[in-house]
Amino acid sequence: MGSEKQGFIWLSGLLFLNIFVLSTADVHYYEFSLQESPFTKLCSTNIILTLNGSFPGPEIRVRRGDTVFVNVHNQGNHAVSLKWEGVKGSIDGSNELIQPGRNFTYKIELKDEIGTLRWHATSAWAAATVHGAFVILPVANEDYPFPAPTSDQTIILGEWFREELTEANQTITPGSADAYTINGQPGETYGCSNDTTFEMQVDYQGLYLVRVINAVANETMVFDIENH
Ligand SMILES: *[C@@H]1O[C@H](CO)[C@@H](O)[C@H](O)[C@H]1NC(C)=O
Ligand SMILES: *[C@@H]1O[C@H](CO)[C@@H](O)[C@H](O)[C@H]1NC(C)=O
Ligand SMILES: *[C@@H]1O[C@H](CO)[C@@H](O)[C@H](O)[C@H]1NC(C)=O
Ligand SMILES: *[C@@H]1O[C@H](CO)[C@@H](O)[C@H](O)[C@H]1NC(C)=O
Ligand SMILES: *[C@@H]1O[C@H](CO)[C@@H](O)[C@H](O)[C@H]1NC(C)=O
Repeated sequence: MGSEKQGFIWLSGLLFLNIFVLSTADVHYYEFSLQESPFTKLCSTNIILTLNGSFPGPEIRVRRGDTVFVNVHNQGNHAVSLKWEGVKGSIDGSNELIQPGRNFTYKIELKDEIGTLRWHATSAWAAATVHGAFVILPVANEDYPFPAPTSDQTIILGEWFREELTEANQTITPGSADAYTINGQPGETYGCSNDTTFEMQVDYQGLYLVRVINAVANETMVFDIENH
């Protein structure tokens, strides 16, 4: 019995070594906590559904071919399911709702996907605030097919509603947003937004990779860097 167990441990150690030597793919674990959080924008406060209290939600940043486990703890008041937009193949649990007080772990096995994907809640009202970037970098010893940028910045275009979003808002009418946002911040042309407008500082002649995600429901957004 004892030696059988030892043999098993030895064999699995060998298998582990093999996997380690043959592939450079990493395994990542993310803990996401769905929660109701107060946010003040356009001079008033709303309770919105968020992941980890942030709007937009946390970014996942991995490399091509990696495996990602995302354990989602639903500490909010609504059943929610997350969708992994642009990931090839099917993901267990994608069609099932995570009930309040429960958690579910999504296992995402990346293949040749690369670039900027996104994740979001499946229902429209929840997706307005529960979404984020899923960045897939080239593998460690691989370059971009263009000059390497000085740094990269994710820009998520979103929308903000003064009215509370609920399960009743299964469609969001185009143009109904009270403000459009960049990384969760309304621009300085909206009231009460001057101090929080999103800013990106750059170096003169630097080279920046900007990853733009349109998280606005059913509207085409145009992104432009003025005088550039
Ligand atoms: C989200 O919050 C949980 C619990 O508060 C924390 O353990 C986890 O690291 C956070 N995840 C991210 C991606 O920030
Ligand atoms: C729920 O979370 C616990 C603790 O983080 C974890 O051990 C368990 O596997 C998770 N359950 C599911 C269904 O993902
Ligand atoms: C969403 O639904 C709630 C409740 O039905 C309503 O009060 C609110 O105005 C709706 N919000 C939008 C943006 O349609
Ligand atoms: C987008 O528009 C389509 C067609 O009008 C509608 O079926 C869908 O529910 C809308 N999506 C959202 C998120 O509002
Ligand atoms: C906020 O910015 C707008 C546009 O730049 C400007 O017109 C307005 O005076 C600013 N308000 C405050 C309080 O600084």
